[in-house]
Amino acid sequence: MAVTAQKGFDIEKLRSDFPLLQTNMNGKPIAFLDSAASSQKPNSVLQAMDTYYREKHANVHRGVYQLSQEATAAYENARELVKGFINAPSAREVIFVRGCTEAINLVAATFGRRFLMAGDEVLISAMEHHSNIVPWQMACENKGATLKVIPVNEKGELVMDEFDRLLTSKVKIVAVTHVSNTLGTINPVREIIEKAHAKDIPVLVDGAQAIPHMQVDVQELDADFYAFSGHKMFGPTGIGVLYGKEEWLNALPPYQGGGEMIETVTFEKTTYNELPHKFEAGTPDIAGTVGLGAAIEYIGSVGYPAIHAHEAELLDYATRRLQEVEGIRFIGTAREKASVISFLVGGIHPYDLGTILDKLGIAVRTGHHCTQPLMDQFCIPGTVRASFAFYNNKTDIDRLVDGVKRAVEMLR
Ligand code: ALA
Repeated sequence: MAVTAQKGFDIEKLRSDFPLLQTNMNGKPIAFLDSAASSQKPNSVLQAMDTYYREKHANVHRGVYQLSQEATAAYENARELVKGFINAPSAREVIFVRGCTEAINLVAATFGRRFLMAGDEVLISAMEHHSNIVPWQMACENKGATLKVIPVNEKGELVMDEFDRLLTSKVKIVAVTHVSNTLGTINPVREIIEKAHAKDIPVLVDGAQAIPHMQVDVQELDADFYAFSGHKMFGPTGIGVLYGKEEWLNALPPYQGGGEMIETVTFEKTTYNELPHKFEAGTPDIAGTVGLGAAIEYIGSVGYPAIHAHEAELLDYATRRLQEVEGIRFIGTAREKASVISFLVGGIHPYDLGTILDKLGIAVRTGHHCTQPLMDQFCIPGTVRASFAFYNNKTDIDRLVDGVKRAVEMLR
């Protein structure tokens, strides 16, 4: 699907599409600055899921009756929408999963089972979310392989010279995040993939934090696997996507066994269904895929160029205004950044700051953000993280800055 910018990006009109942004938290209008954890949902997504359940629900791929066929059509239509959204060559390469975490677990478990051996290496980076660390650790442990880590510099950028050095023939797969959930860093994944492919090494990209902010074209990236969640891109929770190149998905063994992923079953032997069904055991989250499809259409109606322009302005404004806070330290100052700002103020614990902001109606995330090894590298227990989506406005930022100043006065 071609995503084009609409003329006249009207932030207040867009905000009115999101019911939750009209609510209060602790008696104050909510300033929602935690979209990296999970984004809010527009009316069109809520409506699509409601209509699906009220009027179209039946199980998919099972019934000869009309309703089941309509549900199947809605489910497969969502797959087509995803295919267009990420420019996948084929809908067979779009696997519906519960979320980005499950997508990575699927690849780590099945790739590990089929392709990893003792002495092999898996290469990840120091800024990975636990979801892109632990599944690989488990796969390595099972096979006696070793997890290697591309280091991150003090700005929160990958040290690419070290990547070059670590990318030896022992490496069987590289798994990196497109955008860091904690630092906001946008990684040079195109370059990483090109270098890995020069050595015939496949690459999995964790796209959970990229997809809400930027147009992703899996063919242009030449990614072997690209994983993301619906709930971070204005869709529902419980649904996500694993894109995989057909040759890789065919080469991997199934992940879970059960309905839909089989071709024939006897007690002696099971043969497996073709893609994408081979990886979709059990009744899927049909309503989730309908909501995801509506989210894709919503993003298309806003347009990534407009999203990017607005978020870049917010990031710049927030970074400048937060510098007014005495003693602020930004964690993650990469040149290429998405709209995520992690910070600490003096010796104040992030949790204390976050708790006061909550009382002021400002929702931020505090803690290690599921990146404990990264926190260890910066020798900090965690950060306060404000993360923006295109539905945030400058008032949200002004309230954050005023709130942080007030909290600091109270806590110092
Ligand atoms: N991965 C999500 C975050 O960064 C939950 O907050």
